[in-house]
Parts: sequence; C-alpha cells; structure tokens
Amino acid sequence: MATIASPQAETAHDTFPINGTDYIEFWVANAKQSQLYYRHVMGFELLAYRGPETGVRDRASYLLQQDKLRFVLTTPMGPEGEIAAHIALHGDGVRDLAFWVDDCRDAYAKAIERGARSIHPPRVDRDENGEVVIAAIATYGDTIHSIVERKNYTGTFLPGFVKSSPSFVAKSAGLKYVDHCVGNVELGKMNHWVEFYSRVLGFYNLLSFDDKQISTEYSALMSKVMSNGNGRIKFPINEPAAGKKKSQIEEYLDFYRGPGVQHIAIATDDIVKTVRDLKSRGMEFLSIPGTYYETVLARVGTIDEDLAPLAELGILIDSDDEGYLLQIFSKPAQDRPTLFYEIIQRKGAKSFGAGNFKALFESLEREQAIRGNL
Ligand code: FE2
Repeated sequence: MATIASPQAETAHDTFPINGTDYIEFWVANAKQSQLYYRHVMGFELLAYRGPETGVRDRASYLLQQDKLRFVLTTPMGPEGEIAAHIALHGDGVRDLAFWVDDCRDAYAKAIERGARSIHPPRVDRDENGEVVIAAIATYGDTIHSIVERKNYTGTFLPGFVKSSPSFVAKSAGLKYVDHCVGNVELGKMNHWVEFYSRVLGFYNLLSFDDKQISTEYSALMSKVMSNGNGRIKFPINEPAAGKKKSQIEEYLDFYRGPGVQHIAIATDDIVKTVRDLKSRGMEFLSIPGTYYETVLARVGTIDEDLAPLAELGILIDSDDEGYLLQIFSKPAQDRPTLFYEIIQRKGAKSFGAGNFKALFESLEREQAIRGNL
C-alpha cells in the first residue's frame, strides 16, 4: 500500500539526543498479579523490586526485563494519590515512556524552553551503586516522558530498587526491544502532538496515513509516525476519523477516558517461534480470516518463511520498498479494550504494516461488535 513518505530524512543535527527507551512504566491495580502475567505468559524476568519491604511506603514496583525490554509495574498501597486516581480513571495503562539520555539537566532545560509542561525538574536519586538524574515532562493525556541519565549508576535499575531472586524464572519468549509505541489522541489533536514531538523533542515525521488509506466499511483513522533523530524511538500518533460507526480509536478513548498509549510493538528475530510460544502460554491474539493468505503473497512478493505456519498462527505480512515485515496483534491486555501488544519481525521493511490495516481493522471490529461497542 502506498504511504505518504515525508521529505525530511534523518537530520544531521539531532536537536534532542536520546539513546533509546529506558523503560516503560505501567500503573496497574494489582502489580503483584500482573507481574506474573508478564513473566509466565510473556517470558519476562523479574529483576528488581521496590516497595514497603524496601522502605517505600506508598507503592510497590516490579522491574521486569527481557533482552533490552524493561517494563515497570507499579501499584499504590492505598486510595490516596495520583497513582490510585490514574487507575480509577484509566484502568491499568502506560504512565511513562521513559527516555535514556546522556545529560538529563540539559535535555530537560531544552524541553521546557521549547514549551514542554514539567512533571518534575531534575532530581538526583542515590544509593550505594551511584546516582541517577531523572526529570519528567508531560505528553498526551496523563502520559509522561521521564528523562533518565544513568552514566554514574551501576545498580540493577534505579536507586531504591532491590535485586530480586525469584524461585520461578520464565523462559524467554524471544522478545527483544520496543519497536514502536502508538498513542491515541482525540479527534483534531493528531497534528498538535506531531508538532509537539517535532518542536520540543526534535522528532521528524517518518510516515503519514490518511483516512482514505486506513478505513473499513465502519471506521477510519489518521496516523502520523514520529521518529527521534537516531530512529530508535518511533511514536505513531492516531486520531479517529469519521466512519459509519464508532472507530476503534474512539472505543479506546471512551474506555481509557482520554488519550493514552494504544499499543506497544515488540521486536523479535523469529516471530513464528515467539508467537507459538506466547500462544502456548495463554496469550491471545486477533484472528485473521483464512482468505487473507490466499492473496497475501501476490501483494507482498516472495518471503523467506513458509506461509503455512504464518497462516496457522495468524501472522500478517506487509512490504515496502526496503523489504517486508511480519506482525501480529494481541487482544487487549486488560478488561477495558485499551492497551494491546504487537509482535513484529522486520525483514528490511521500515514501515508499519499499512497494507494489513484493513484486514486487521475488520478483525478488531468483530471483537468490538462482540463487546457491544460498534
Ligand atoms: Fe504498530
């Protein structure tokens, strides 16, 4: 499928250097149980913990890691405070897409000077392993970006976290790193946030999709993909577009009660093995009609993989000028139809699977109809 490529390539001068994603923090109602899902089902390892047992009275946080992926699950110990309020309003969801930088104070000062809203100024946290400088700025909805400088820190994660030695250690599912994180924003707000990432954080517009490209009989959406200078962080921003019935973006906004992270795409080197493994452990994915596989190779060209296992598992294929990609989408990760996961294996392609959007949205709409929200 044709996409609208931006004329701006990676700029020689990166005005907001970010090394990559530092961690993603979720605020959830019951981190103790959620962390078991991420370990048993998705193959994360529990590396560290911070909570009442380690001297933090108001919350409990679990650090989970798999290859370069670092997720933090945090639960409040009572109904007071911003974490409990966030969970009451949004349900379980992503609070923080944290950036790893070399100089937190400089990055924060630049962001504020360019118009970012402060969540907190740079703060130095210390323990016996050194110090971390951390600040945070606001993005869409109640989502934030922490800015983390850890060059003077040798501990497992952040000061205060104590290394865990669990008796159960999950087998990795081959999940490697965050490929992209998608934000859903309100109708008419996509360009506002595109401009925010461009002006404040020096991102550039990598790709755009309009509602003519991404539409089904019922719903449509618009999307622009923003990338940071070195390409390690990619944030597609979606907004709903008018359709006959409620779009999946509107369903998200209704249930999350505002803008937020819609999906996190995680890279793997062997999607067939990873998805087979995740399914066998109970992770649920959207299904695609068998007819999809009758025509897919005519659309994407030759691929290295056998089609049979891809069809059996419901893995989608798309291509662009540089190669192809394999991808699959999970069902929502909580009862509210909000956050879900994508598993992606890139074989050269730098795009996001626009050729699959129609088949995918029809699958999503079947689920939406079952929930009574279409
Ligand atoms: Fe995606």
